[in-house]
Amino acid sequence: MDIIDLIIKKRDKKELTDKEIKYFIDGVVKQKFKDYQISAMLMAMFINSLTLNETASLTMAMAQSGQILDFSEIEGIKVDKHSTGGVADTTTLITAPLCAACGLSVIKMSGRGLGHTGGTIDKLDSIPNFNSCLTQKEACELVRKNKIVLMQATKNLALADKILYSLRDVTGTVESIPLIASSIMSKKIASGADAIVLDVKCGNGAFMKDINSAKELAETMINIGENISKNVSAIITDMNEPLGMNIGNSIEVIEAIEILKGNKGGKLKEVSLELGTRMLLLGKICKSISEGKKMLEENIKNKKGLEKLRTLIKYQGGNESVIDNYSLFPQAKSKLIFTSLKSGYIYSMNTYKIGRAALETGAGRHTKEDIIELSAGIKMKCKIGDYVSEGDILAEIYSSSYEKCIKAKNILLHSIEISKNKPELKNTIINF
Ligand code: URA
Repeated sequence: MDIIDLIIKKRDKKELTDKEIKYFIDGVVKQKFKDYQISAMLMAMFINSLTLNETASLTMAMAQSGQILDFSEIEGIKVDKHSTGGVADTTTLITAPLCAACGLSVIKMSGRGLGHTGGTIDKLDSIPNFNSCLTQKEACELVRKNKIVLMQATKNLALADKILYSLRDVTGTVESIPLIASSIMSKKIASGADAIVLDVKCGNGAFMKDINSAKELAETMINIGENISKNVSAIITDMNEPLGMNIGNSIEVIEAIEILKGNKGGKLKEVSLELGTRMLLLGKICKSISEGKKMLEENIKNKKGLEKLRTLIKYQGGNESVIDNYSLFPQAKSKLIFTSLKSGYIYSMNTYKIGRAALETGAGRHTKEDIIELSAGIKMKCKIGDYVSEGDILAEIYSSSYEKCIKAKNILLHSIEISKNKPELKNTIINF
């Protein structure tokens, strides 16, 4: 077999066999091919797409390209969840403790922020001393004891994806449905989950901008699951405005705590409960959507979800007092208020730009090496459909420096459309 023949085959729109895809992934991991050859193959895959068989083969080859975690010694169905990437999307910190409080074993493997989107591991870093870097053995012990673990992926999990993703990032080959689906599913399979709940984001702050692409991505990932006998459930959720009100790291953890305390509602809570219900269903903890939702809501009311988060933080070395005293989180030095220049309805938001504005405060990274400012970010004070008067506060911007706040404000200025017309409000969860 030769890589050049395989590139030509894919270039000519022919289907690659399982063996050929394995050969390609094996060569990627063993550094047998040049970056330009791998990139040429990625571009051929991007342009000519992949059949379902090719996508399933690619997913399995990538999953098997590194360590495959094994949590089979833990009783019951282990359910993982994954979001395709959003802004103010803190569902994991709400859903995971709530589901664990209902008796589900939750081993959630999370990532860091990517571009304008946030990552759970960065958010957890804002809890003083929290340790998300666990071995399989440590994770098993904690899940057995507390039913919950939130950890970062081990270094060599789905190794091929790491290599391919960094090349896709710089060769214009990210927004391909089969490539995204295989990238996400390979990591979920390697992380040892029995069943997976997917939150496919759709809108101007997501990789999938329109509903048809979001549906296709969701269906592709469900099909991959069927191919390998893993139960996969997916929802599509709107990303045409930030999901929660806080965009950053410590401030997103605080918003999650407020929801678990029962002090806050809104879209973030709505999506968290929907995902949690799906997880309970797949984990056979409940029999119907309505039963699952009731169980989760009960665990907000009786504070069992909040106490589960406290236990999680404590057992992973963090200072659990942050739950009662938010001043224990890192604090930003500078704050800037962003006010409305006119009166009218919040008509639309550019969520991608709002995510970029948060990144400029220091809440995200420009390069892989950047160190995140854990206290930085933006607290939104308006949602689509709100009526605001000139001078009303639209957002509060937090950073280590006033200059960064100004940079973020300049982006926000072009991110929120105010109109005399009232917008039509859309559902957050899109049925498909
Ligand atoms: N998230 C991933 O893990 N991979 C992709 O390709 C896109 C989003």
